[in-house]
Amino acid sequence: MFCGTAEFVCAPSKVRHIPVLLDEALEALAPGPSKRYLDCTFGGGGHTRGLLDSSEDAEVVSLDCDPDAGTRAEPLAEEYGERFRFCDLSFQRLDEASSEGEFDGVLFDLGISSFQLAEAEKGFSFRLDAPLDMRLNPREGQSAADFMETATRESLVRAVREYGEERRWNRVVNAILDARGTGKLQRTVSAAEVVSRAIGHTGRKPRMHPATKTFQGIRIAINGELEAIAVALPKAFRALKSGGFLVVIAFHSLEDRIVKRFMRRMAGRPEHRRDSRSIHERVAYAKLTSTKAVKPTAEEVERNTRSRSARMRVLQKVAQPEL
Ligand SMILES: C[S@@+](CC[C@H](N)C(=O)[O-])C[C@H]1O[C@@H](n2cnc3c(N)ncnc32)[C@H](O)[C@@H]1O
Repeated sequence: MFCGTAEFVCAPSKVRHIPVLLDEALEALAPGPSKRYLDCTFGGGGHTRGLLDSSEDAEVVSLDCDPDAGTRAEPLAEEYGERFRFCDLSFQRLDEASSEGEFDGVLFDLGISSFQLAEAEKGFSFRLDAPLDMRLNPREGQSAADFMETATRESLVRAVREYGEERRWNRVVNAILDARGTGKLQRTVSAAEVVSRAIGHTGRKPRMHPATKTFQGIRIAINGELEAIAVALPKAFRALKSGGFLVVIAFHSLEDRIVKRFMRRMAGRPEHRRDSRSIHERVAYAKLTSTKAVKPTAEEVERNTRSRSARMRVLQKVAQPEL
């Protein structure tokens, strides 16, 4: 699980986002002359820049649904000219910025960037007091505060227990329900206090802030992050040329499971243990470059603690599925 939310306290102007598994991702995308890539999660442009620098004529189209990412993309547009294009677009709609069989490589580096964590007004960090927003795209959807005030108990349980993987989910959900209408769920710090009080002391010094898991689960719920990746993967696959590579870096086990199952399905492998289809019923449109996910080295985790739960999976397309 990515618990970066707990770690970030830094003046926004000093913030930098260190790209995770950069060398591994670039190698997996097989850079070479005249390649065209789609980076579905521009963030601070770390991977995009790496791809643009991988050869002198590499072209990259990058997407991000956070309007501030567009501002961070401007210097790259100046520097790389027509080789780079940024689209202010959610990756679930990537087919609006691409055509079938267009790219040699498609990359997803999921989750949020250090820029988003560090900007108090985005409401992702419980260390910076601000309205509890947490929307990746603040122009649409429901803020985390509204979700906590109005969601059904079932939706709260899904967010806290399933997406947040919080062991004390029952206490947390009850505390959220009790805090409704008091104003405490409106701001990051007070909402985090509601959660911390509900969890109480576990006896040991906590490795992370007690609200970390709940905040992560609520972020995943309000942004529909799992649904988004499930919708985007088949579109990304269609956008690849035959022989092109799909590379996905995930930070959450549920996200990684969706990626793993999709890749296995495309490669004609059983998706899970109960998958009873015979080998003849399964069609291979792709090759898995490895059955195991790539993890960051100990040195990378030391350098960048955000990377510690990263899992990278790679698939090479061999044929276009008939849909
Ligand atoms: C971990 S950051 C990417 C960092 C980037 N690879 C770099 O090296 O700077 C993830 C980015 O994906 C964006 N994002 C998350 N979900 C998205 C979606 N559904 N559509 C478009 N962008 C999304 C976030 O706004 C964030 O900027």
